[in-house]
Amino acid sequence: MVELPGNVRGWVVVGHDLAMELLTSPKVSKNPRQHWPAWIDGEIGADWPLASWPTMENMTTAYGHEAQRLRRPIVKAFTPKRVRSMQPYIERTVQRLLDRLAETPPGETVDLKRNFSYQLPATIICDLFGVPEADRAAILRGGEKTPDSSLTPEEAEANIRDWTEQFGKLIAAKRAFPADDLTSDLVTAEGEERLTDNELIGTLFVALGAGSETVMNLVTHAVLKLLTHPEQRAMLEDGRASWDDVIEETLRLESPLNLLPLRFAVEDLELDGVTVAKGDPILMGYGAIGRDPAVHGDSAEDWDIKRENKEHLSFGHGTHYCVGAPLARLEAKIALPALFARFPDMQLAVKPEELESQGTFIMNGHKTLPVILEKASVPVGTP
Ligand code: HEM
Repeated sequence: MVELPGNVRGWVVVGHDLAMELLTSPKVSKNPRQHWPAWIDGEIGADWPLASWPTMENMTTAYGHEAQRLRRPIVKAFTPKRVRSMQPYIERTVQRLLDRLAETPPGETVDLKRNFSYQLPATIICDLFGVPEADRAAILRGGEKTPDSSLTPEEAEANIRDWTEQFGKLIAAKRAFPADDLTSDLVTAEGEERLTDNELIGTLFVALGAGSETVMNLVTHAVLKLLTHPEQRAMLEDGRASWDDVIEETLRLESPLNLLPLRFAVEDLELDGVTVAKGDPILMGYGAIGRDPAVHGDSAEDWDIKRENKEHLSFGHGTHYCVGAPLARLEAKIALPALFARFPDMQLAVKPEELESQGTFIMNGHKTLPVILEKASVPVGTP
């Protein structure tokens, strides 16, 4: 059991097989309004530091048929076929970001996380949902704050207020002037796919948040691994390994989501010799699940792109399986080779052990990734 901020106690699932079982079990729910007594009684409310998670009304806090209903409009927008058709647009976006990075003077340090790994998914998801340029920073702020487990009660409340207001504004604008984008599709949907205002806000919130912070960590981790494992990078260059190998092994070892709030036991559960009582919170320990030695043996903690079994649950499994997995994989598969092709001499600007963690237990990432893209040229005649 772990203690979360605000003295909330929860169970953490760290084993692969148990995770598979619980992620498909109707005995586990993500709906706090139905299955979390402390939320239903008002004992925990909007000032809880992690309150954004239970507050949002969307597929991630729905149970059973409701979860399916709320997933449908988003699943439709991100089918593998639709995502494949985005390839030329993603390639152009990557090239634009690389052009901007290339303006960094040789020898100067740049934070690759902020200026590339984040910019790419944030730009793509905002373009897809038709977020006006001027509103992007404010809209994305909720996605950055929500996975921050160190928020104070005041910050948590303000965060919910802010994202509700920002998405309310976006919805009103698209209702008034629908355009060719996913927000307009959502607000103009009819029949079974029509969402309430709260569901619209919650759905936009998860799509924009989940679509940027996670890809950012995947790309950043993959770059860091390649910069610190030259022998494996050489395998990519001579064709012994592929970019898919890099992406899947990075997802396995460095799941962008570390501990995901929140699920609840629908009834008393007997799991591995412990009783998880009805209503107890459960967190998915995605950061540990990919490193389970029962699946990956003694080398589970090693990053090895030639590993045969790269099985992981880093996109989840079952009812709440990540809607954006094909998009995330495609973004990484375009971004990583293009980055290394443009800056073949890129190197870390600090020692790997000096990199600071992102400072939240929900995500697995670093605060920054300082790199030098190109060495400073040494003037002719310099000894
Ligand atoms: C490397 C990038 C990504 C990772 C590692 C990731 C990971 C995950 C995981 C683990 C879940 C399941 C959560 C659970 O256990 O309940 C999930 C759900 C989800 N993801 Fe992703 N995700 C990524 C990218 C994206 C992108 C690009 C989108 C864009 C649309 C997205 C949208 C969603 C949504 C909407 C859900 C909720 C599904 C549901 O509750 O039914 N994700 N993601």
